[in-house]
Amino acid sequence: MNVTTLSPRALLSLLANGAKAMDVVETALHLGLLDALDPDAETGTRTDTVSLSDLSLRLGVVPGRLYKMLDCLESLGFVHREQHGDELDLVRYRAVPGLRQAAEAVAGPGSLERDRDRYPWRLLHGRLVDVLRGEMSIPAATFGWPPRDEGQLADFEQSMAAGLGPIIETFRAHAGRLWGERALRLLDVGGGDGTLAAHLLERSPALRVDVFNLPAAEPLVDRTRKESGLGGRLGFVAGDFLDGPLPGGYDALSFVRVLHDWPVSTARALLRKAHAALVPDGRILICEEFRTPDRLAGQFFWSYFLMGVDTCVSRLYEIEHYVRLLEESGFRDVTVLPGPFELITATR
Ligand SMILES: C[S@@+](CC[C@H](N)C(=O)[O-])C[C@H]1O[C@@H](n2cnc3c(N)ncnc32)[C@H](O)[C@@H]1O
Repeated sequence: MNVTTLSPRALLSLLANGAKAMDVVETALHLGLLDALDPDAETGTRTDTVSLSDLSLRLGVVPGRLYKMLDCLESLGFVHREQHGDELDLVRYRAVPGLRQAAEAVAGPGSLERDRDRYPWRLLHGRLVDVLRGEMSIPAATFGWPPRDEGQLADFEQSMAAGLGPIIETFRAHAGRLWGERALRLLDVGGGDGTLAAHLLERSPALRVDVFNLPAAEPLVDRTRKESGLGGRLGFVAGDFLDGPLPGGYDALSFVRVLHDWPVSTARALLRKAHAALVPDGRILICEEFRTPDRLAGQFFWSYFLMGVDTCVSRLYEIEHYVRLLEESGFRDVTVLPGPFELITATR
């Protein structure tokens, strides 16, 4: 069972109690209940059930109260319960796979949800009718798209860098196939503060990466270069990809969480510019949250907040959408490489 199989009435009841649900999850995490329910979380193997009495003893809590807490977790679809008799000490539990890591990701120190909460979404709260009618927006001085000034850009790039984990994992898993030991030059278009580039360079000594970004990003990439000690292998090219061609002569060119921010016509134009900028047989790489129910849920914050920012399209697309755009733009050998976020590659 998970929330998507609940009736609308039941799901709304959980959502209306969302703050309490997070209290339960955070408490379960910090108390060690999630570890106790899933001691093999690290290895990903399936564990046996654990009894309510064992759990209560181990955590030093009152069994009847813990039972209610576990009912909260069960209502959220996070634990399975087996009732072997009438008494409380005959109840056994098991966490659904991945619960411990998911709770750590959302409630732990690197939480993206907490990072997003810093943004001024409260400006929209309770005013969605005005927002939908186009009568109210997030002021560009507060959050502009593209970011308006160095302060906004630095803030935004910091948020982006915090969410790079799954993307770095995918690129690393395929580094051998993408560049191996070859001395290739990659242009990371809209490459943020250079954090992804730095991670790629650390593992592939022959690679060189230039970040292409708005001029205000230069000090951010300078800082990443300095902190990573990568020197001239991490370059920066200032420019606006909406205005004029992309710089040429690169063996590979990446768009990481860039294309989904723009209308399809702009994405198409960017792919054509990429085709022109690559060397013959050069490779284009596209990586972002391709649309699945899980990723749409992960995108909920931006779907909400960006209702007030018309210039940012923010639309998750299925992989097939990009396969089609790439083929229409003249690329061949389109390949989808697996990973936490898939990586689409194609050849010029
Ligand atoms: C959603 S962020 C993704 C950043 C990075 N690739 C990542 O995944 O962490 C989009 C990036 O595109 C850049 N960008 C937006 N508009 C741009 C433009 N017109 N020309 C060049 N870069 C732009 C932003 O500054 C930002 O670095």
